[in-house]
Amino acid sequence: MDFASLRRRLLGWYAKHARDLPWRQSRDPYRVWLSEVMLQQTQVETVRPYFERFVAAWPTVADLAAAQEQHVLRQWEGLGYYRRARNLHAAAKRVVDEHGGEFPRDVAGLTTLPGVGRYTAGAIASIAYDAPAPIVEANTARLYARLTGLREPVASTAGQRALWAFAEQVVPRRGAGRLNQALMELGALVCTPESPKCDACPIATHCAAFAQQATRVIPVAAKR
Ligand code: ADE
Repeated sequence: MDFASLRRRLLGWYAKHARDLPWRQSRDPYRVWLSEVMLQQTQVETVRPYFERFVAAWPTVADLAAAQEQHVLRQWEGLGYYRRARNLHAAAKRVVDEHGGEFPRDVAGLTTLPGVGRYTAGAIASIAYDAPAPIVEANTARLYARLTGLREPVASTAGQRALWAFAEQVVPRRGAGRLNQALMELGALVCTPESPKCDACPIATHCAAFAQQATRVIPVAAKR
């Protein structure tokens, strides 16, 4: 795969088509972390007003750490998966008590925080700190599966191994945050689960599933 050309096309597309999302207006690790935790199981348009209310109520991680858990849970109401809200509050307290109010800067440090897995850590490290950290979440998993013509289910051990290996190859040494967001955006807007818009895709010429006319069967369904 020609990664230089793939990145160039992707960034050109992203410059034109990126949605204006509130968490993209700064690289504050607190905002990046908050948005990524909210986006773990919830759609962008649902998250948007919650994100705005959280940063208005608690502009910094120290403010969130000082809040009562009951208040945080109440603000979370409607987003579901309440464990995320409890972990959020616990992680904020940990950042303040154990890291002097600053988020860890690398993936290993970030994954020690409750509710921060490999994906969320990679997103924070790359978007906030521009570390060359790979990411695989729902949108990018589907995109990478199609680009590489993956014939294993994305959630399988072999599938996950292949997707993370691809993510490590595609992420650049510099500008990782922007590239990772471009990958997620292409997955969300163009490389959709049903009827992907391949005629609007800047990297269709790099795509194995497109070449094989297999975008309907890749990603392949889980074995059952
Ligand atoms: N889904 C998860 N993280 C995202 C982000 N930063 N932008 C858009 N969609 C996302």
